[in-house]
Amino acid sequence: MTSPIAISCHDGVACLAVNNPPVNALSHAVRHALWDAVTDAIADVNVNAIVLVAEGRTFPAGADISEFGKPLRQPDLPSLINLIEASPKPVVAGLHGTALGGGFELSLGAHVRLAALSTKVGLPEVTLGVLPGAGGTQRVPRLIGPRHALGMMLSGGALTGEQATELGLIGGVVQGDLLSACIRLAAQLAQNGTDLVQTRDRRDGMENPAEYMSHIAQARAGLTNPDLIASAKIIDCIEAALLLPFDAGLAFERAAFEQCRESDVSRALRHAFFAERKASKLPGLRGVTPRNIDAVAIIGGGTMGAGIALACLKSGLNVFVKERDDAAATAADDRVRAVLDRDVEKTRMSAIQRGEHLTRFAVGIDIDPVSDADLVIEAVPEDMALKSAVMAELGRVAAPGAILATNTSYLDVNTLAHASGRPTDVIGLHFFSPAHIMKLLEIVIGDQTAPDVQVTGLALARRLGKSAVPSGVADGFIGNAILNAYRTACDHMLEDGASLTEIDSAMRAFGFKLGPYQVLDMAGLDISWARRQRLAKHRDPLERYVKLGDVLCEAGRLGQKTGAGYYVYPEGSRTGVPDPVVDEMLVALRHDNEITNQNFTKTQIQTRALLAMVNTGAHLIDTEIARRPGDVDVVMMLGYGFPRWHGGPMQWADATGLLHLRNLLTVLADNEDSKFWAPSPIFERLIKNGQKFADLN
Ligand code: 3HC
Ligand code: NAI
Repeated sequence: MTSPIAISCHDGVACLAVNNPPVNALSHAVRHALWDAVTDAIADVNVNAIVLVAEGRTFPAGADISEFGKPLRQPDLPSLINLIEASPKPVVAGLHGTALGGGFELSLGAHVRLAALSTKVGLPEVTLGVLPGAGGTQRVPRLIGPRHALGMMLSGGALTGEQATELGLIGGVVQGDLLSACIRLAAQLAQNGTDLVQTRDRRDGMENPAEYMSHIAQARAGLTNPDLIASAKIIDCIEAALLLPFDAGLAFERAAFEQCRESDVSRALRHAFFAERKASKLPGLRGVTPRNIDAVAIIGGGTMGAGIALACLKSGLNVFVKERDDAAATAADDRVRAVLDRDVEKTRMSAIQRGEHLTRFAVGIDIDPVSDADLVIEAVPEDMALKSAVMAELGRVAAPGAILATNTSYLDVNTLAHASGRPTDVIGLHFFSPAHIMKLLEIVIGDQTAPDVQVTGLALARRLGKSAVPSGVADGFIGNAILNAYRTACDHMLEDGASLTEIDSAMRAFGFKLGPYQVLDMAGLDISWARRQRLAKHRDPLERYVKLGDVLCEAGRLGQKTGAGYYVYPEGSRTGVPDPVVDEMLVALRHDNEITNQNFTKTQIQTRALLAMVNTGAHLIDTEIARRPGDVDVVMMLGYGFPRWHGGPMQWADATGLLHLRNLLTVLADNEDSKFWAPSPIFERLIKNGQKFADLN
């Protein structure tokens, strides 16, 4: 087996290069080999100085997150960094790529840090529910003070090499060859016998203790989410950096790190990290080459079409939007330009960039340019007859080999594929609104979608900077199927006696930014109304149907855009207030259906809403619409605002206990609605085998 540390010697300078693809994570094997290599270099009389670098695409991007759930093995990272810092021979670290987390902390043990052009450094641990646990909270504030240290660690954001240099985190950015520059500097330091200053002895950032403590107090006052314990602990540790001797501070940090690492929140956030990466892979299609995509045509430049056009333009693709008439074409053009103009106004984009994007953009009503596209995405209104006609036309006019995609929210992708006459070329690309911002892209794979079309969908998502989740064909695919179940469970509770505000505030308390009825009001009630009307003739007469949504729409209350929906929005306000008129509507519905009011606690509301999501997720996995529980979680976190620190509904179910949840479902199925609440057979299988949903990932 090759060692994860490559060692070479250049005129008395030992170069230790981490070699652990893909991101040189500091696994146990790396730490062990690096410990030995540093010890040997210190002991070797022929070595005067040490350079620490990495091979491949990046300096270590952190500790190995996959080891976080296992017992810690020695040497641990803090000890390794202490060993490096205490080296009597100069140590220079050469950073490139993304020197993050434990990787950046490792470099803080060196006496000098240099970075290659376009290096990013950062401490993103908070995004995994932990804190920098290898001295970062103690060494960084010593270098740059509490304000920037807090900024870095609480946001988890990365700095450019130039920004890091300006702050004093690193020594500078190297224009030429990084390794040569590091070797030169290390040799020079050794030759000059320069006193080596250890980061632990620096006090540059601590010159004004009163100001330091005021930043700490300010950060503490700014904490908003008590669930995210890592943030609070980061502040405690940065405070400890000032108040405690270095080694005591390190011990304090390590204890806090361990507490965070073992928390449910960190487990959920780590699950989210790996689930996102796993979702966007189709292992069965490894080696299949994606089709080339340079030019995209979009049919329909409304809300979604314009957003998709923007996402494509911003990723360097050529875009043609085909509309149905001149007025609609002008409106589509305006929609796209308005967003680019706003980006320039907000300095998110330069005027030159906007101009460059627009050279790759055209709108028209002519079908001919569509035949130049490598990918055509239809985004016309949600109507099977209209979409089938569009797909049939695309099947005729699109270039041979061009991919035909539909952005339908619910319709049967196989039927649309059949309508095109070339079903192997057809795929669903379910973008979320606003399509140029939302990270999720559901890739809907039809019965006949060709393998290279499937991998092209994944490659496109990556190019657009989105997370892809493949789904089979089903009503609403993964996300909207779960959304419907969530809303249905809430509607049942509403009709049974819970109030709108009780339900919305319970779900906000769980961590959603908005409750389900606030979301409906914001999106507009007419969309789901139209769908219910379409499905009415197929509805099982025995299915419980809550009519409030229809009653509101019939009264012209379509949500925020009409000033009233579930809530009322006085004088154009975007914050709804409860409306007695809606209460009266509910009273009438309860009376018609002979319902006796029940009380629901916050926990009961949350549990029922989540149970509906979990059970639907389980059905989707059981029927192989979703490939694994992690995929369901990614869809719900990235597309529907499910709080990331709960890790998605399936992860929440694992943390809560499957036996307990199955029993609750059985009680609800027996007492309330046997069809809606019938537990998915997966529960029984997992419980019998002592497994969790995570075991199916
Ligand atoms: N540990 C283990 N695996 C990691 C990893 C890590 N720190 N970082 C990335 N990986 C894996 C990914 O899971 C993925 O594996 P796969 O190919 O099997 O799916 C592979 O490396 C490539 O990752 P990406 O697909 O994310 O590659 P990108 O090029 O898009 O992004 C990156 C690279 C910016 C480094 C990104 O992976 C990233 O942000 N990684 C996490 C960085 C991080 O959070 N570091 C802190 C870790 S906690 C820590 O260090 C604690 C310390 O303070 C004690
Ligand atoms: P929209 O009504 O805003 O836009 C539709 C556009 O299609 C209009 O500009 C219209 O002029 C144009 N159009 C109609 N017939 C056409 C034709 N024959 N040829 C060319 N253009 C035509 O609708 P929206 O919201 O953009 O939805 C489009 C699709 O995206 C629907 O299938 C919808 O279900 C789906 N979707 C919508 C989401 C949303 O939040 N709005 C989210 C995800 C998917």
